[in-house]
Order: sequence, then structure tokens, then C-alpha cells
Amino acid sequence: MAVAPICRHHEKNEQTIIAMTQDEMKQAVAQAACDYVAAHLPAGAILGVGTGSTANYFIDAIATLKDRIGGTVASSEATRQRLEGHGIRVLDLNDVGQMAIYVDGADEIDGSLAMIKGGGGALTREKIVAAVADIFVCICDDTKRVKTLGRFPLPVEVIPMARAHVARQLKQLGGTPKLREGFVTDNGNLILDVHGLHIKQPTTLESQIDGIAGVVSNGLFARRGADVLLLATPSTVEVMKR
Ligand code: A5P
Repeated sequence: MAVAPICRHHEKNEQTIIAMTQDEMKQAVAQAACDYVAAHLPAGAILGVGTGSTANYFIDAIATLKDRIGGTVASSEATRQRLEGHGIRVLDLNDVGQMAIYVDGADEIDGSLAMIKGGGGALTREKIVAAVADIFVCICDDTKRVKTLGRFPLPVEVIPMARAHVARQLKQLGGTPKLREGFVTDNGNLILDVHGLHIKQPTTLESQIDGIAGVVSNGLFARRGADVLLLATPSTVEVMKR
């Protein structure tokens, strides 16, 4: 896919090397997602919008499309505020019957387009909005691409009174949970970040963690992974489909 690269050219041994920084890759993939939405979102349809630094660039890019988007659904309060700051209409998910596309970043993504999300703590709302969408478009740079999920600590949102119980259960699953200090989710809950997991079967682990009493949701997006991946590399944006 051709995306106008925001890039630097380094002259080295008479070869021109085009390389983007990670931040430039985030901007490039956000613009590619904006182009994807312009091409695939039916006029007047609803767009779901994710959370994080890559999603923020996407929000800035779709300001140009606001007259042809029927409305958006935000996956966090931060995203709602940024959308509204651009004059983009934000709807309550309960008032939306169908959502054509959801666009969001990821903390890790594997070859089957299963992801770890929730580095920004918005995993539960992200998972709910993603569940409603017809197509999940993941936007990230190639530092997020992994063979096996788990290097990034897996976020788990827990009801505060269940924190210690859930932590013990997560240890039994082989992880080392750490409370995200000083952080409360948009839903008034806590986050345990689970270190040391080597996730061979993401769908199974996603269900196991969801089955622990007191867990609201976890950051594995494997049962409902991405349908399309727009992946920024230092020189271009690649497109992958499940
Ligand atoms: C937010 O809770 C996360 O799921 C983000 O989508 C994820 O952390 C990616 O964020 P960045 O785009 O900031 O890396």
C-alpha cells in the first residue's frame, strides 16, 4: 500500500536509506487508516475509535472526514474528549445498532492478528466497542509485531475488592501480576499488569482469565482479534488481512 512517508533520508555509501522514527510510523499508519476509512466506511455509518498515542494521530487525521461519518463511539474518556475537540460527533454505544469499522492500536500483535491491548488502561471499553464492530482495523508500528504474545505485560482490569484474589489466581496461571500504581480505569477499577507470560494459546488464556471471579476483562484480544492490520515499517505501511 502506498502511503506518503513522513521520513528522513540518510545518505550512506551512495545509497539512500529511508527511515521513520517510531512516532513518524504512528503518524503514517494513522494516515493510512484514515485513507482506509475514507475508502471503506459507508457514508453516514458509525466508526468506533480506539485509545492511545497511535489512535490520537488517527483522530487528528479523521477530522477531515467528519462530515461523512455518521458518528463515532469512543473507547475511553480521553478519546471522547479528543474527538469532541475536533467537532466530531460522539455517540453512546447504547444508541448504536451497528458499527461498520473500529480502528485501534495495540501493544503487541501476532501472526494470527491476536493482540495484547490495554497499555493505556482502556481495555474493557475497547473490547466492548470492538465486539460491536463489523471490521476491526488494528493500526501499529512494527515494534509491536511479535511471534508469541507475552513480552508486553498483560493488563487485567479487576474490581478493587478482588485485587488480591485475582492476583493469586494469575500467579497460578504462571504470571507475575503487578498492581498499576495510582491508576484507576474509566470504570472505577484497578489494573494488574501480568509479567512473565509466554502465551502459546491466546484464546484459551483469554477465557481462563475472564473466568476468574472479580476480573472485568483482560487485554488479550484473541477470540475477537483484528480483521485487518495496517503495520507501519520504517519505510512503508503494509496491509495484512485475517
Ligand atoms: C489502550 O488501552 C491500548 O489498548 C492502546 O491501544 C495500546 O496501548 C496502544 O497504544 P499506543 O498507540 O500508544 O502504543
